[in-house]
Amino acid sequence: MSILHDKRILLGISGSIAAYKTPTIARLLVKAGAKVQVVMTDAAKGFVTPLTLSTLTYLEVLTSFTQEDNDNAVWNNHVSLGLWADVMLVAPASANTLAKMATAAADNLLLATYLSAKCPVFFAPAMDLDMHKHPANQDNINRLVANGNILIPATSGPLASGLEGEGRMEEPEQIVAILEDYFKSKSPLSGKKIVITAGPTYEPIDPVRFIGNHSSGKMGYALANAAAQQGADVILISGPTAGNITHPNVSVVAVTTAAQMLAACMDVYTNTDALIMAAAVADFQPTEKAQQKIKKQAGIPSLSLAPTPDILSKLGEGKKNQILIGFALETQDALANAQKKLASKNLDAIVVNSLADDGAGFGHDTNKISFLQTNKEAVHYTLKSKQEVALDVMDHLKTMFDES
Ligand code: C5P
Repeated sequence: MSILHDKRILLGISGSIAAYKTPTIARLLVKAGAKVQVVMTDAAKGFVTPLTLSTLTYLEVLTSFTQEDNDNAVWNNHVSLGLWADVMLVAPASANTLAKMATAAADNLLLATYLSAKCPVFFAPAMDLDMHKHPANQDNINRLVANGNILIPATSGPLASGLEGEGRMEEPEQIVAILEDYFKSKSPLSGKKIVITAGPTYEPIDPVRFIGNHSSGKMGYALANAAAQQGADVILISGPTAGNITHPNVSVVAVTTAAQMLAACMDVYTNTDALIMAAAVADFQPTEKAQQKIKKQAGIPSLSLAPTPDILSKLGEGKKNQILIGFALETQDALANAQKKLASKNLDAIVVNSLADDGAGFGHDTNKISFLQTNKEAVHYTLKSKQEVALDVMDHLKTMFDES
């Protein structure tokens, strides 16, 4: 799926002969799955028709502050347009339009929308070479860049005037590639399939009782959210928690026992780029689950326990190209113990948190971790919110992807 899928792009078209290339820009963006809203100036309508652009974008093209609907004027709300967009692209940006953008003039809908936009604004100047190199025009371009707008520089070549030089609008394919690169830089984990486990597991003793632990799942949920926000497709395999996650890139698989968590991991493992095992899997399970509630009148029962499957070890055994990251919650000799697990479970990295540290581990909103990788220096962090810790783990993961 293209990184442009579902992205909302405001395409502002001003009056320049280069406007004849804007249907191609609109077409390429729409083909990539973007939603494109065109706003054009009156001058632009002389070069390309609103009908062409509305047909290509499936949206009405906006050209003025109001629309006449059976004599009832309807206001085109430039403020909500500006808020709607993920990016605004002004292409072509004529000398006139970019001068007005640089001086906050707002005498048409495109300019008012530009001034209301909170998103990044790209602009692609297009004009004759002498207009382009005029110091007043260069001042305007520089001012726009200084104000945080992103310049798509004009290129050199034959111009409509018959002259040759700098002033051609960048080609549509290149402009679309620049937008793709922008969205990719905002989503460094785009295209990656990441599985994260979270929460405790419950191992049933009878229909009402279980062996479990105090895990809140907060760390795993923060990891899932961070990965999704950076563009990854996330499967969150979660034991019983009060956690809730609504990011559209996250699908949640709810499990109860270690055996179910193992099966859920195995189901998706082959197709996974990275798996982070943040769940606090119960270590023991009753060898038998009583079918009925065990009566206390019958005296204190003796429970026979067996180990749960070590999910991470099994995943480590079957590892192919996946990056496998474990968690280790230790009460003593944290680093040495974690180092042993890193090797014995065939992991690529392990996140260590020690219950000896105040504010770290179960139930807290904060955590204090060290990140251990084979053949690398351990990285030790201060106490942070679990959201910040998740971002640190994602930074390591990105480096691991880059190095793999
Ligand atoms: O061996 P220990 O439980 O300390 O290892 C911690 C790591 O192993 C964690 O990532 C945990 O999710 C995982 N684990 C597992 N299956 C178990 C026990 C722990 O995957 N039965």
